[in-house]
Amino acid sequence: APIQTPLPSQCGPADLPSGANPVNCCPPVSTSIDFKFPSSSTPLRVRRAAHLVDAEYLAKYTKAVHLMKDLPESDPRNFTQQANAHCAYCDGSYDQVGFPGVEIQVHNSWFFYPWHRFYLYFHERILGKLLGDESFALPFWNWDSPAGMQIPSFYTDTSSSLYDPRRDPSHQPPVIVDLDFSLNTSTDTGQALIDDNLKLMYRQMITNGSTTELFMGAKYSAGDQPDPGAGSVENVPHGTVHIWTGDPRQPNREDMGILYSSSRDPIFFAHHSNIDRLWDVWKTLGGNRKNYTDSDWLNASFYFYDENAKLVKVKVSDTLDARKLRYTYENVDNPWINAKP
Ligand code: C2O
Repeated sequence: APIQTPLPSQCGPADLPSGANPVNCCPPVSTSIDFKFPSSSTPLRVRRAAHLVDAEYLAKYTKAVHLMKDLPESDPRNFTQQANAHCAYCDGSYDQVGFPGVEIQVHNSWFFYPWHRFYLYFHERILGKLLGDESFALPFWNWDSPAGMQIPSFYTDTSSSLYDPRRDPSHQPPVIVDLDFSLNTSTDTGQALIDDNLKLMYRQMITNGSTTELFMGAKYSAGDQPDPGAGSVENVPHGTVHIWTGDPRQPNREDMGILYSSSRDPIFFAHHSNIDRLWDVWKTLGGNRKNYTDSDWLNASFYFYDENAKLVKVKVSDTLDARKLRYTYENVDNPWINAKP
C-alpha cells in the first residue's frame, strides 16, 4: 500500500543533528482540501537559467522573497515556515498513517523527485501570488552546463533577500562548482574541473541512471523503514552541490549542507529547480528511463500549504506532467550528453 502522511495535527518534534539550534518544524494545524490542477488557461510559468536572468526578473524575484520573509511568522507561506516544511519531511516529524513510530523521509527513495516537485510548485505559486503575477517562475541553477557552474552572482549580494551568510566563503563566484565534491580530496580546477563535471553528469544521468530504480531511487511503501536507497543524481550531484554550498564554519555545514536547514538558503530553490528539470530531461534519454508505474508510488500522499494558505493533499500521480502544473523550463543545451567518459 502507498505511504500516507498524517495531518499537521500529528506532526511531532524533528530529530535534529547535533549542534543544531532547536527548531519546531511543524506547520500550523489545519484541515485539508484535495489538490486541483491549475486551469489550463493560466499562463505557463517559464523557469529560466539563473545565470541568464535579467535585472527586471531579478528585481521581481528578490521582492517576492522579501515579501515572503515579511509575512507573519505564523503564516504557513512565510519563508521560514516554507523552510521548516522541508525539515518536517526529512527529519522525522511525521510517522506514516497506520504505522506509529515509522518515520516518513522524502529523501533516499522514489519520493525524492515528486515530493520536491510539489515543494517548489507551491513555493513558486506563493511567490507569484505575493507579486500579483501568475506567470512568475523560479530560476534554475544550471550547474550542469559550463556557464552555470558557479553560484549565480545575484545570490552573493549581501543586501538581497536571496543572500544567506551561511555558505562556504571559499566557494564564491567565480569559483567553479565541483559536482563530485568531497570533503577530503583535492580536486581539479578550471577547464579540467568543467570536463570532470560534464563526464560526471553523463555517468549519473546515462550510465548510472539507466533504469527507473537506479535513477529515481528505491521503492518505499507503507510500513517500510525510511531510506531504502537514493537514485544516482540524488546522491551526486544533488547531495554534493548541497555540501559544496554549505558553510564549513557551521556544525553541519548549515544551511545548504544538511537536510534540516538546507531550504533556509534561497539558493535551495534554484538548485532543486535544476534537479526537477533533469528529471524531465532524463525521461527523454530513452531506453528504460521511465517513471515508476507502481500504485504505491502514484498514490502516496503529502500535504503542502498553497498560495492561499490552504492545506492541500497531493498525490505523487499529480506530478507526472509539469505542463499540467502550468510550468516549464527554458530550453538549454545539456552538453554532458556528449561527454561520454
Ligand atoms: Cu530535500 Cu536537496 O534536499
